Amino acid sequence: MKVVPLVPPYIASLRPYQAGRSLEHGVKLSSNENPLGTSPKAIEAMERSLRGLNLYPNGGLELREVLAEEFDVKVDNVIAGSGSEGIMSNIIRTFLCDEDEVLTTEAAFIGFQVLARSRGVKYRTVPYDNWHYDLKALAAAVNPNTKIIYLANPNNPTGTIFTRHQFDEFYRHVPERVLIILDEAYFEYAKDNPRYPDSMYYRYDNVITLRTFSKVYGLAGARIGYGFAHEELIRNLLKVKLPFEPSTPAQAAGIAALADKEFLHRSLEMNARCLRRLVEGLSEIGLPAAGSPLGPDANFVMTILPTEQEAKRVFEELLAQGVAVRPLASFGLPNCLRISTGTDEQTELCVEALRRGYAANVGAGRGS
Ligand SMILES: Cc1ncc(COP(=O)(O)O)c(C=O)c1O
Repeated sequence: MKVVPLVPPYIASLRPYQAGRSLEHGVKLSSNENPLGTSPKAIEAMERSLRGLNLYPNGGLELREVLAEEFDVKVDNVIAGSGSEGIMSNIIRTFLCDEDEVLTTEAAFIGFQVLARSRGVKYRTVPYDNWHYDLKALAAAVNPNTKIIYLANPNNPTGTIFTRHQFDEFYRHVPERVLIILDEAYFEYAKDNPRYPDSMYYRYDNVITLRTFSKVYGLAGARIGYGFAHEELIRNLLKVKLPFEPSTPAQAAGIAALADKEFLHRSLEMNARCLRRLVEGLSEIGLPAAGSPLGPDANFVMTILPTEQEAKRVFEELLAQGVAVRPLASFGLPNCLRISTGTDEQTELCVEALRRGYAANVGAGRGS
């Protein structure tokens, strides 16, 4: 029997997700994880929760209650799921019909690209404007079939943000029948920037905000994320969501992590320090970092190489020196690399490896 006809063409054309590279003995700066580890309180709570593994979970209800309290909204406005990508996948399944279209920036977060394309609907993009979302162009690109607009703020892989004013201008041009996904996976890293708009202060009925415990709370392996939206949107998402997601340990970890302000504070402090160091290290060897002169508002930086070949070469050189970063060809940016912050020591190793790998070669290969 030939299996191929069973696979729709839009699935056949997808490439399996490639995770950030790990090294057995080396530094992994390829997946925007928390180099400090996990909140110890979250680990304790997870361990305690193991005694209840014989029982089915309650769909994230306790976490939803805690989040509702923390963010001053109703439980009916909150959803919890297996990572924010888990919720994103439910959004795709709940709201998209065959003739609908999805609209976003070029080279958007790869997780969203794959989810949207796997639904077989039309996927449209507009180019970046100096590595920022071009919200004006996005608003102008809305057509009668546009159903979902995806915006990540801060954005992955560029680390850039848009402001409240820019969003409001954009929002005025978007019809209410369009669902806007505001992906705030890196919210905590940006929240102290006065230019960054916390979407909890500008709620609209057709906007769903997504956040995660994967990044600053160090729980990427637990798969726990959450979202806020109008109760009608949440009610319909809950019909589609797998009833027993998130898992009991993931939910317990999320609740405990949210209360561990000390771990949050330490993570943010280290990130700010190491991000500055990475941006500075790149600038020392003449490589630009996307974003404002102050650098990105996230736990990573994107750098732009002159060519695709050089991006590949620097990636390989860093690997050879024991530092894994993220090549961005799969996102659609073959001449860019994304580097996550590490601990102070890991960050320093990366800066040093960049200096040896890039600067040396520029001197040898192109400088003369
Ligand atoms: C913009 C963005 N959204 C969502 C996610 C996925 O988060 P989660 O682990 O909660 O599924 C990531 C992870 O890299 C991300 O960069």
